[in-house]
Amino acid sequence: MASKFAGWLATVSAILANTLTLADAQSSKPVFAHFMVGIVENFTVQDWVNEIQQAQAIGIDGFALNCAPPWVDSYTPKQLDNAYTAAQQLNFKMFISFDFAYWSNGDTGNITSFVGKYANHSAQAVFNGGALVSTFVGDSFNWNAVKSALGSQKLTVIPNLQDPTASGSANSQFGVDGAFSWYAWPTDGGNSVIDGPMTTIWDERYIQGLNGRPYMAPVSPWFSTHFNTKNWVFICEEQPVRRWQQILDMKPALVEIITWNDFGESHYISGSEPNHSDDGSSQWANGFPHDGWRDIYKPYIAAYKAGASSPTVSADEIVYWYRTIPHGTQCSSDSLGIPRGAELMHDLVFVSTLLTQPAQLTVTSGNVAPITVNADAGVHVFNFTMGVGKQSFSVSRGGKQILGGQSAKDITNSCQTYNFNAYVGKF
Ligand SMILES: *[C@@H]1O[C@H](CO)[C@@H](O)[C@H](O)[C@H]1NC(C)=O
Ligand SMILES: *[C@@H]1O[C@H](CO)[C@@H](O)[C@H](O)[C@H]1NC(C)=O
Ligand SMILES: *[C@@H]1O[C@H](CO)[C@@H](O)[C@H](O)[C@H]1NC(C)=O
Ligand SMILES: *[C@@H]1O[C@H](CO)[C@@H](O)[C@H](O)[C@H]1NC(C)=O
Ligand SMILES: *[C@@H]1O[C@H](CO)[C@@H](O)[C@H](O)[C@H]1NC(C)=O
Repeated sequence: MASKFAGWLATVSAILANTLTLADAQSSKPVFAHFMVGIVENFTVQDWVNEIQQAQAIGIDGFALNCAPPWVDSYTPKQLDNAYTAAQQLNFKMFISFDFAYWSNGDTGNITSFVGKYANHSAQAVFNGGALVSTFVGDSFNWNAVKSALGSQKLTVIPNLQDPTASGSANSQFGVDGAFSWYAWPTDGGNSVIDGPMTTIWDERYIQGLNGRPYMAPVSPWFSTHFNTKNWVFICEEQPVRRWQQILDMKPALVEIITWNDFGESHYISGSEPNHSDDGSSQWANGFPHDGWRDIYKPYIAAYKAGASSPTVSADEIVYWYRTIPHGTQCSSDSLGIPRGAELMHDLVFVSTLLTQPAQLTVTSGNVAPITVNADAGVHVFNFTMGVGKQSFSVSRGGKQILGGQSAKDITNSCQTYNFNAYVGKF
């Protein structure tokens, strides 16, 4: 009798232990940020440390290291080493995100050796018991070959698949364990521009295609680019707040912020990153800080990890953002012309209130009469008609101003070149 009971107990505790392990694995909700290795040719380990500390300050767990092969960027191996070395010092995590604009299906050998080099590194990001690896596109790359070459070094492959309905079949065919979506902005597919706001239509397609396997959801605050090879905007506007609420509602297995430092497409959330190289994006990124967006992301990241349905605010703050030219303005000497999609943008100033208790927000945008709205506690977003000139913000509670001031950047209706990047400030 006693031994039967002991056997039963052992079985129960084994089941419990399994359940707990499973629950632990599933409740760990990592948040990564996409890092462009291609613009940090001369980064030192100290440069990486500085970036990692900024990311850790808002709860980001690791960087997805977007990189080209060494025959395109000779410094890729050195910068991957620097990244993993810095991460190890700070208990941060890294994984490689192979950029298939440059890698191809025939590069199995090199991909295997890069993945294998770091799979057991103490700074390697791990998910579901395997070293995490991802991509930008590369939908038909066969990961089974990499997995079998690496034998006992288990991998969890969560590539960016462009076709959400392929997420299911790619599993057995190409050794894919999950999927990451690049549909981080309002679009009907490809780079088509549609009116906002961002919805979860694409996310739902991936989640359905994956049928329970892990979905890495993209979070991006903005998109504007103005190169001769690509010249368009997506309609993001209130997205720095609204996208995170979608994430809290969807509760995906992982999140990847697009991006940490892509200045070219204006979706960076890093600081100015003094030692990165300039691909021409300084034209629209210099003098356009995005640091305030990290302050919005921080409570949302904490809420996502906790499985909460809304963020918790511990100090009163506002973060505001706006484009510095109304979208109908004609710039005087821009040889590329106005970015595709600009006609869909709304001439509004956006403010996110992060409040411990309700308060009143007053915005004075240029020559538009001041507007006051009531803001509840928590994180909310409001918009105000854009007026050319100075931009002022004020928050009051109980009839007393608690924070506010004038933005350092004016809105203007004269310009030489189009710049639809957002200027982000905070009080
Ligand atoms: C940034 O680059 C400069 C010039 O190469 C270098 O002196 C400095 O140490 C770098 N910054 C860091 C944090 O490594
Ligand atoms: C990596 O690519 C280089 C250049 O194409 C090639 O010479 C080398 O053999 C490749 N290495 C492996 C391990 O496949
Ligand atoms: C990596 O870890 C796995 C599992 O512990 C082990 O089997 C493998 O030999 C290790 N590989 C290297 C290169 O250390
Ligand atoms: C990196 O440093 C080398 C050597 O000083 C220099 O030639 C190169 O232009 C630098 N790269 C960038 C992108 O600044
Ligand atoms: C501006 O705010 C209103 C009221 O909340 C909202 O209906 C509208 O969608 C917002 N506009 C944009 C472009 O986000």
